[in-house]
Amino acid sequence: MNTPRLASIASLLLALLVPHAPAAAQGKAKGAPPAPPPETELVKRGHKLLRSRGCNACHSDDGTARVGPTLLGLLGRRQKVKTRAGAVREVTVDAAYLQRALRDPEADRALGVSPAIMPPQRLDAAEERAILATITYLSHPAVVARAKRNAPAQGASSLMMLILGVVIFVGGHFALSGRYIRPSLIAKFGEKGFPGIFSLVAAVGLTFVIWGYIRAPYIEIVPPPPWTRWLVNIVMPIAWLFIVLGSAGGPTTAAVSKRGDTDADNADDDVARGIHRVTRHPANFGFFLWGLVHCIANPDVAACILFGGMTLLAGAGMLHIDRRAARDKGEAWTRFAAKTSRLPFAAILAGRNRLVLREIGLLRPLIAIALYVGVLIAHLYIFGASALPF
Ligand code: HEC
Repeated sequence: MNTPRLASIASLLLALLVPHAPAAAQGKAKGAPPAPPPETELVKRGHKLLRSRGCNACHSDDGTARVGPTLLGLLGRRQKVKTRAGAVREVTVDAAYLQRALRDPEADRALGVSPAIMPPQRLDAAEERAILATITYLSHPAVVARAKRNAPAQGASSLMMLILGVVIFVGGHFALSGRYIRPSLIAKFGEKGFPGIFSLVAAVGLTFVIWGYIRAPYIEIVPPPPWTRWLVNIVMPIAWLFIVLGSAGGPTTAAVSKRGDTDADNADDDVARGIHRVTRHPANFGFFLWGLVHCIANPDVAACILFGGMTLLAGAGMLHIDRRAARDKGEAWTRFAAKTSRLPFAAILAGRNRLVLREIGLLRPLIAIALYVGVLIAHLYIFGASALPF
């Protein structure tokens, strides 16, 4: 980790502890800072284009690092780039460089930002002029100075938002399904109303998560090693398979009451069928894999908070569900648990169950592969980062 990065983490932590204090204090101590020049119509048009063309998803205009470099103070910046031929050189960003960056983004790859690919932009001459005018405006010293005063607070508040979202989403899952809150909510809203409340809390958490994550600064902890992109692409089809098979079979607790209750004659090895022979918690295990490999492949602060939280939820969720089922389902659970394992294939390897591929069928694995391929292709457009390993 280099010094500017440490400095930016330190200033973020400071802003987290004392929200907005540094900016306010600075403003007062130094008197009124120089006012930025008014925005011309062309500059305003460029701002609009940055939003409507989705540039803002990857480039901030306030100094926050996102997937791509910030557009604040871009003009005149010294920048290390890697040419298509692989040579590394340092350039000063000027109008010609910017034009090339828009028309052929990968001709000179900016280094020190996330390894995501910038999709080539199809802008007509007028749009290009407006965007260049806006980038020029964003490089005006007074505009840069104003943004720098506010940036740490903004970066910190989006990280706070993200943390809050993860806490609501993850904490909500545990709290609402736990023994203290669930019964009283069911008493109040009924068995039918409860899932609605649950989904509402999850949706609120997820909204905060998405809101915070999109705006969160990109603070690299270590540079992501290239092999991690392969890791994700090797593991994700497996994760999708578990998620699809797990979701199709309904929740594990439902599987317990469906089959564990049947009388002992046929229950012997049939208490757990299909994917439940492999693991008791297929969907959880799929989400666990998803979170874990995304965490490893994205060693930056925001991604670790998001994917770390989700991995924790999926992993600890398995233990939580088991404890609740043991309490609520008694004998049925004992029989189900005896034939299943949390760790995939553990029960099969221990001779407590067997793999019956026929019960899994072909359709669901095919759906899983289709989802994997679909999300792989859409990844760049939805999340602003290509998921391809090359
Ligand atoms: C999917 C994310 C993404 C989108 C959308 C995107 N960019 Fe980029 N952009 C990047 C990345 C990553 C880089 C750095 C790598 C490179 O130089 O190609 C970059 C580089 C740039 C650069 C050069 C910056 C430098 O420091 O070298 C400019 C200028 C730029 N983008 C402008 C735009 C504009 C304008 C739009 C919208 C019309 C846009 N980008 C849309 C990701 C994106």
